[in-house]
Amino acid sequence: MNDRKKVSLPFLFDKMTKGVPLTMITCYDYPMAYLVEQSGIDIVLVGDSLGMTMLGYDSTLPVTMDDMIRHAQAVRRGTPNAWLIGDMPYMSYQPSDETAVRCAGRFMAEAATDGIKLEGGQEVVSRVKAILAAGIPVMGHLGLTPQSINQLGGYKVQGKTPAAAVRLLNDAMALQEAGAYAIVLETVPVHVARIITEKLDIPTIGIGAGPETDGQVQVWHDLLGLFSDFVPKHAKQYANLSEVIVAAVRSYAEEVRTGAFPTEKQSFVKQPAPQEVEQITSAAG
Ligand code: KIV
Repeated sequence: MNDRKKVSLPFLFDKMTKGVPLTMITCYDYPMAYLVEQSGIDIVLVGDSLGMTMLGYDSTLPVTMDDMIRHAQAVRRGTPNAWLIGDMPYMSYQPSDETAVRCAGRFMAEAATDGIKLEGGQEVVSRVKAILAAGIPVMGHLGLTPQSINQLGGYKVQGKTPAAAVRLLNDAMALQEAGAYAIVLETVPVHVARIITEKLDIPTIGIGAGPETDGQVQVWHDLLGLFSDFVPKHAKQYANLSEVIVAAVRSYAEEVRTGAFPTEKQSFVKQPAPQEVEQITSAAG
């Protein structure tokens, strides 16, 4: 394994104060979390993007709390030391403060996450306060908020007009005042992300928000090239794993067809005594 220390909130704030960018990535299962742990990433988000990346839905809306808990538990087992965030899925906090506290509490009690993330600005302030009152750190999420995709009219850049940018800034200030310890800014113009980052005392983590936020987050599948059909503009592929995987599985299938796999190396060979094979075949009905 490795000898890194458990990431804490003071550690993250210390980094921000020193101007060291925070690193964050989504992750959804045990084997990948095991690899993330070795990479030394600060923050791991079990994002509700798992609806698309892992479950094959076309939005995040069908994702349930039970889906999130099962994946968060697996990720926690793989990465004991990253700051782990459970993403509150659609309808786990919208109905009431009480629902929000119960669902956030499930992440902490059942999956040992370090905190939760939820989408929205001024309209979720009372949820943020209620969750914090239960001792659970809250990360906000502004800009392109996928759970409101129908209201936003599609996956578009947010905060493009001065009025929309002011709304975003006011939302960010409201979240900070409510006690959020960090805010994800998704798909907003660079200058808007810069202004919000300058105005806040808590870290901003950008995805499609340019280089001037306090940290960056990317979706696992985008970063590793696991979906070659669609690569969002904000993503950079650091590997093309879909190509590697398809080539490996094709080679395996080809070797099975040609008889090149398995060989003695992958087999349990024992020279049977002359009468042994006869003994086994005749014993079997
Ligand atoms: O669900 C998710 O993956 C997210 C990130 C895009 C921040 O919320």
